[in-house]
Amino acid sequence: MKILLGVGGGIAAYKAAELARLLMERGHDVEVVMTGAAQDFVRPLTFAALTGRKVHTDLFAIESAIEHIAVAEEHDLLAIAPATADLMAKLAHGQADDFLSTLYLAFTGPVVVAPAMNVNMWEHPATQKNLETLQGRGHRVVGPAEGYLACGMTGLGRLAEPEAIADAIEREGGKRSDLEGETVLITAGPTQEPLDPVRYLSNRSSGKMGYALAVAAAARGADVVLISGPVQLAPPRGVKVIPVRTAVEMREQVFLNLGPAGIVIKAAAVADFHLARVPDQKLKKTAARISVELDPTPDILAELGREKGDRLLIGFAAETQNLQQEARRKLETKNCDMVVANLVGGNDTGFESDQNEVVLVLRTGEAISVSRASKREIADRIFDQLLKLRLTLHAAHER
Ligand SMILES: Cc1cc2nc3c(=O)[nH]c(=O)nc-3n(C[C@H](O)[C@H](O)[C@H](O)COP(=O)(O)O)c2cc1C
Repeated sequence: MKILLGVGGGIAAYKAAELARLLMERGHDVEVVMTGAAQDFVRPLTFAALTGRKVHTDLFAIESAIEHIAVAEEHDLLAIAPATADLMAKLAHGQADDFLSTLYLAFTGPVVVAPAMNVNMWEHPATQKNLETLQGRGHRVVGPAEGYLACGMTGLGRLAEPEAIADAIEREGGKRSDLEGETVLITAGPTQEPLDPVRYLSNRSSGKMGYALAVAAAARGADVVLISGPVQLAPPRGVKVIPVRTAVEMREQVFLNLGPAGIVIKAAAVADFHLARVPDQKLKKTAARISVELDPTPDILAELGREKGDRLLIGFAAETQNLQQEARRKLETKNCDMVVANLVGGNDTGFESDQNEVVLVLRTGEAISVSRASKREIADRIFDQLLKLRLTLHAAHER
C-alpha cells in the first residue's frame, strides 16, 4: 500500500519514526509529511533517512507539479500520527494553511487518525467535538491509549502503540471496497412516542451504535440508508439519513427503502408500546392519579423477518440478563441471520457509551464474543462476520 504519514507537532512525534519503519518492514511504501511544529520535535532528516524519500514540509516549495495535489492522488491511505489537538481542530474545520492540512482536503482515500495529547486537552469538549466530526467522516481513530503522559499526568492521551496503528492502517486500507455495490439499510436511535402534544415516551438509546455501523458501511463502499430516531449526532458523510420520530414512522420508512437493500440492520431501540390515540391538547396537571393505556407498536423486525427474501437481517438485543439465550430466541422468532447482543444496565458500555462489548449470535449456531472496543471497531467486526456468514449460507445453499 502507498501510505502518506502525516506527523503533527507533539511530543510523540518521535514515535512516528518507529511507525514509518514498521510500515516499511511490513512491505508498504511510506512518504512523510510534517507540520512546522512537528519539525520542532523531530528533524525531517530522520524520516528521509528511514523512508528513502523526500519529506514534505513546505506548501509553497513547488518544484514541478502542484505537489500537495499530486501527492494526494498518488497514495492509497493517509495516516496522521501523532494527531495533535491543534491538527485535529484544523482537519475537523477544513483549515488549509500548510502542506498537511491542504493535502488532507485534497485527499479522497481512507484516513486513519492517531491522537496524542495531555489528558485534559483530550477530554476538552472542543477536542471531543472535533473527534466526533472526524469519526463522522468515516475516518478511523486509533487510541489514544491510557497511561503515563509526557506532561507528568496519567490518563487517556498516549499515542497508541505503533503496532496497533499499523494494524489499523492495514485493516482500513484492505477493506475499502468489500461492501461496494451493496445497499445497507440501518435503523438507529430511540423512537419518541407522544403522550400529548408536548410529552413523549422514549428510551436511553443514543444512536451511536447505528451511526457507527453507517460510517463503517460507507467506509467499506456501501450505499447506506440510515433511518434515524431523534439523536444528538452529526449525519455521517456520504450516508442518506432519513429522520423519523415514532415507531410507526420508522416502520413506514423501512419498508419504503427496503427495495435495493441486501443487508438490513435494526440497531434502533424502537418503543414497544405507544398511545394509540394521542390527545389533541396537553394533559392538565391534576392532583389525581392518571393512567394511560398503551398499545403495542408494530414489530418491524418480525415483519422484516417474514419479508426478507435473500437479504441478511440483523437484529439487536439489549438485555439485562440471560444474554445469549434471549439473543438466540430473538434470532429464531424473528428469522434473523445475526443478533448482536449486549448487556445493558452497566456503567460504561451500552446505550450512551462510545464503547461496547457484544456477542454476535449467528444463524449457523455460532456465538462470537467481541470484547470491549469502540463502537466503530465493533461495527467493522459485525460486517466482517456478516460477509463470512453470507459465504457460508451461499455455500450451504449450493450443496
Ligand atoms: C514540549 C511540547 C509538547 C507538546 N506536546 C503536545 C502533544 O503531545 N499533543 C498536542 O496536541 N499538543 C502538544 N503540544 C502543543 C502543540 O505543539 C501545538 O498545539 C502546535 O501548534 C501543534 O501543531 P500541529 O498542528 O502542527 O500539530 C506540545 C507543545 C510543546 C511545547
